Amino acid sequence: MTEVGEMTADAAVENPGAASSRGALLEVRGLRVWFDTPRGQVRAVDGVDLRVEAGRTLGIVGESGSGKSVLSRAVMKILAPSARVLPGSEILLDGVDLATVSPKRNKHLWGVDLAMVFQDPMTSLTPVLTIGQQLTETLRFHLGLDRRAAKTEAIRLLTQVGIPEPATRFGRYPHHLSGGMRQRVTIALAIACSPKLLIADEPTTALDVTVQQQILDLLGDLQATTDMGMILITHDLGVVAGRTDSIAVMYAGKVVETGPTRQLFSHMRHPYTRALMDAIPRLGDPSHTRLPSIPGRPPTVIDPPAGCSFAPRCPSAQARCLVDTPRLEAADDSPQHSAACFYPLGTPAGDTAREANASAGVTAAGTRIDSRDVI
Ligand SMILES: Nc1ncnc2c1ncn2[C@@H]1O[C@H](COP(=O)(O)OP(=O)(O)OP(=O)(O)O)[C@@H](O)[C@H]1O
Ligand code: SF4
Ligand SMILES: [Mg+2]
Repeated sequence: MTEVGEMTADAAVENPGAASSRGALLEVRGLRVWFDTPRGQVRAVDGVDLRVEAGRTLGIVGESGSGKSVLSRAVMKILAPSARVLPGSEILLDGVDLATVSPKRNKHLWGVDLAMVFQDPMTSLTPVLTIGQQLTETLRFHLGLDRRAAKTEAIRLLTQVGIPEPATRFGRYPHHLSGGMRQRVTIALAIACSPKLLIADEPTTALDVTVQQQILDLLGDLQATTDMGMILITHDLGVVAGRTDSIAVMYAGKVVETGPTRQLFSHMRHPYTRALMDAIPRLGDPSHTRLPSIPGRPPTVIDPPAGCSFAPRCPSAQARCLVDTPRLEAADDSPQHSAACFYPLGTPAGDTAREANASAGVTAAGTRIDSRDVI
């Protein structure tokens, strides 16, 4: 996990926020992606709405298995064959429904309109081709550059992403480079054709902390100088705090809280978001500080029972949470901020629920809680 020091609310407040009157570059409406498996239907993404504007960054945050990668693969149209996108799901890029795009046009969708940076750089790089061959092939195929122009542009891209001695590295194979350098090359490949939208799915988790910061800074710098929209996916709320305009928190295939980064941090409403926040280490903490962790595990999203999927782990859970499913509703502080919770934090109902459970030492779901962890 990334050390984020004194970030969180303060860093988020420095961010300009998502409030913007620009049109949506990407709009996802009612997206449901299920897998039929011998164990039942896995509802990996179950009714998600998202919006990304040109020149802005959306952070998608959630624990392992919450549906972040399936969601991004659905946008990229690179889902596994066993995935089923349910009727009524819509993914619009610049107003065009991606479901209607022809296979021929699809070939140019990746790279030119949409690009993705994966957690493992070797997912995008071919081990038997040099860095230069991979970059120039992309440039020649999508942009029609001749060999000489493609080489010049490839070296410019390698320079832009901070590869030292780019002319030498041009002739090297991926295995000659460190993990951080390989990830820089995949970013060069991803931005080669100036995509409208870049999706970075956990682009730094395999790298050490210093290199993580450099890669995230690089993505931020690239975006600041272009009109590219970006989705930054991570399990670490600390990573998106100072680097995004808006955030969507995912749990069990659904968005449970979303809003401009500033509002989300200053008026956090969902107990799951709060738990993710509490799990971020801070540089100012004394050594050996016990980090509160979220009790329990994320649920399997196979044939989910009624009620709130977070109820078994939620310190605020009440009887209603076990039978009714909360929907995303506008929070009280901003129309752009919404949360799916019957007892939102910072509201009288939420405070009463949390205090009642803390003094009883147990929630309505039967989960025992330590009152020291319920602030
Ligand atoms: N091909 C598949 N077949 C069946 N289930 C799948 C398949 N791919 C993903 N899933 C399931 O869909 C759910 C969401 O998976 P996803 O990979 O999107 O999670 P994630 O949020 O990206 O997690 P992580 O942080 O570990 O990358 C999980 O329960 C996962 O097991
Ligand atoms: S209070 Fe209830 S509805 Fe809100 S997150 Fe907890 S279990 Fe879900
Ligand atoms: Mg993933």
